[in-house]
Amino acid sequence: MKIDPWSSTTYQNYKRLRDEFGIEEFTEKIWRDLPHPHKLLRRGVIFGHRGFQLIHDAIKNKKPWAILTGLMPSGKMHLGHKMVIDQVIYYQSIGADIHIAVADIEAFATRGYTLDETKHYALTEYIPNYIALGLKPEKCQIYFQSQNSDVKDLAYLLGKKVNWSQMQATYGFNGQSNMTHIFSPLIQTGDILHVQLEKYGGNRPTLVPVGVDQDPHIRLSRDIAQAHRLYNVIKTRDDKIGIFLKTDENIPQLLDTAEKTIQKLNFKELKQITEYKAIYINDAEEKDIQKIDEALSKTETKQGGYGFLPPSATFHRFITGLTGEKMSSSKPESAIFLTDSPKEAAKKIMNAKTGGAVTLEEQKKHGGQPDKCVVYELFLYHLIEDDKELQEIYTSCRNGKQMCGQCKKYASQLMGELLTDIQTKRKTAEKKIKQYLE
Ligand code: TRP
Ligand code: SF4
Repeated sequence: MKIDPWSSTTYQNYKRLRDEFGIEEFTEKIWRDLPHPHKLLRRGVIFGHRGFQLIHDAIKNKKPWAILTGLMPSGKMHLGHKMVIDQVIYYQSIGADIHIAVADIEAFATRGYTLDETKHYALTEYIPNYIALGLKPEKCQIYFQSQNSDVKDLAYLLGKKVNWSQMQATYGFNGQSNMTHIFSPLIQTGDILHVQLEKYGGNRPTLVPVGVDQDPHIRLSRDIAQAHRLYNVIKTRDDKIGIFLKTDENIPQLLDTAEKTIQKLNFKELKQITEYKAIYINDAEEKDIQKIDEALSKTETKQGGYGFLPPSATFHRFITGLTGEKMSSSKPESAIFLTDSPKEAAKKIMNAKTGGAVTLEEQKKHGGQPDKCVVYELFLYHLIEDDKELQEIYTSCRNGKQMCGQCKKYASQLMGELLTDIQTKRKTAEKKIKQYLE
């Protein structure tokens, strides 16, 4: 199995994806003690992560951390697209600084849009909707890939540590693939890592909330971040913690800096072995690795490196389309667009595929199947904040107390309220766009 970020497959078996690609499970343990955890976190919609512990600890210890995500502006924005920005707004409310890439180069390379078309969609659809949904301008920057030379420079420079075999194996590129497409994952790596440049806030934990189709880019960015480090902190075979240099230049000076840095963290039993380009710390344990690594990362930029901390990511499930297939802009009846009128939305909901039984009688007897119902998904992903109320709907559906007709009406009513609210706020949103662009 391969994840292809540019195909339109939907992924059904999320557990298998996790197992096969080494994505960690996003368990209750990791979100429970965050401030007012968002419903997408609480309800298992975020099903996996890489390196979220770093983010968790930054939040707990009130240290700076960043969000970086990107949007591919292709046509109108629907409920599926809303999920990423819902998370971004939540993370902004708990202290992250926000960076959003408009992936115009990628849209050009992989979807055949011109840069002007993408710009148009970003400025008239996505960004106004983000503002209407509640994204604040403070500590928030939205930029276009094609306009950000720091991102593009990084893409070129960081590409030095990736070779063609790796790109082929990761993305299935071949002799027919065009160069702009081949290069676009490096632009995305530039997006993800540029927020750790001094100018954008320096080395700090960065979270990239995405759909699981983006995992190849996440793996690439994490590999590249690691490959450009000067120091590598690991547990050695004899259960000690070791720091190893990854470069052959300035060895004595780099080891000296490392030693001083570790002493400041109060470790005392250090052994430097210059031939191995290593320092062993006898009084450190595995749980100290993160702390040591973060401290060393901060010294790297002064020594000619980048000091990138590995970017973290969360992966969310995709909302099912109203027709039971993928929610897609190219099939308007499958999607609710944020610009749909309440009436249009209601019509789509009334035609949606539910988990109801064939006849009313049967449903009263055996109940419905909320787990297979897209109307229930609307409640779960977008319409109901209160977990108790959601649970009640689930139970009364399972018990056969709630029938699909009345349920759809309720969903339509809530959807109407949501859309009206967004559309009212959008009226003033376009005037505010400037505050978000660099
Ligand atoms: N590739 C993403 C998509 O298809 C868009 C994107 C561009 C992105 N740069 C990013 C996502 C950086 C996350 C992080 O939608
Ligand atoms: Fe879905 Fe509601 Fe019907 Fe249950 S009653 S199957 S939740 S529409």
